[in-house]
Amino acid sequence: MFSFFQKKYYFQDYLEDFIDIHNHILPGIDDGASTVEDSLKLIQHYKEIGIAQFITTPHVMNDYYPNTPQTINAALENLKEELVKAGQGNIKIKAAAEYMMDQAFMELIGKERLLTLKDNLVLVEMSYFQAPINLHEILFQLQTQQYKPVLAHPERYAFFHSKSLNNYTDLKNRGCLFQLNALSLVGHYGKNMKDIAFRLLKEGMIDFLGTDTHQLRHLEKLSTVQLSKKQLELVLPVINRTKDTFKY
Ligand SMILES: [Fe+2]
Repeated sequence: MFSFFQKKYYFQDYLEDFIDIHNHILPGIDDGASTVEDSLKLIQHYKEIGIAQFITTPHVMNDYYPNTPQTINAALENLKEELVKAGQGNIKIKAAAEYMMDQAFMELIGKERLLTLKDNLVLVEMSYFQAPINLHEILFQLQTQQYKPVLAHPERYAFFHSKSLNNYTDLKNRGCLFQLNALSLVGHYGKNMKDIAFRLLKEGMIDFLGTDTHQLRHLEKLSTVQLSKKQLELVLPVINRTKDTFKY
């Protein structure tokens, strides 16, 4: 009943040295930044909320964004050159990918080296409508090839939501790490996603945080995010773990 008077904390005040490990800021290769100008604008806004280090993660999605290490690295080099020209050569950026767990991905594992966030950590996602039929097989295959899956935004998969969180426990038991989207903390993707996000945080099941930025409006919203003390206490260890794990 006192919540109205509770002190709030701006999320962006806790992002010093944060590395955004999930975003779509490379130009022209997925549904994020369309042009280099877009990329530079996004990075400018990132700097305003205190973020200047990135592991960027374009979609690799066979049907829509059939990216390869070649397309991703070419876009990365292009952006880096433009950053230098714009006097922003101090921005740290390297590229990985966000792999859709589809049939093409299943065939790719073991065929070529996947782009990893770091070491053997591979960012993966699935459809918001249903899990892939062969999800367990894909996760098993990844681990056979010595990869560790990092599931992007686990809170957004409504078909995994349940009172007991048993679907999430199962994924953890199968070796998945979890990356939460920052905007889920304020219900950007819906109330259910926010509720599950905080339950996963409370259970200590969230490993890392990312922004999943595609457009300016995501960063604009992020700059307004306020958390209660309790919420902040749940999120801070995840921010710190993300920084510690991925610093380069
Ligand atoms: Fe993403």
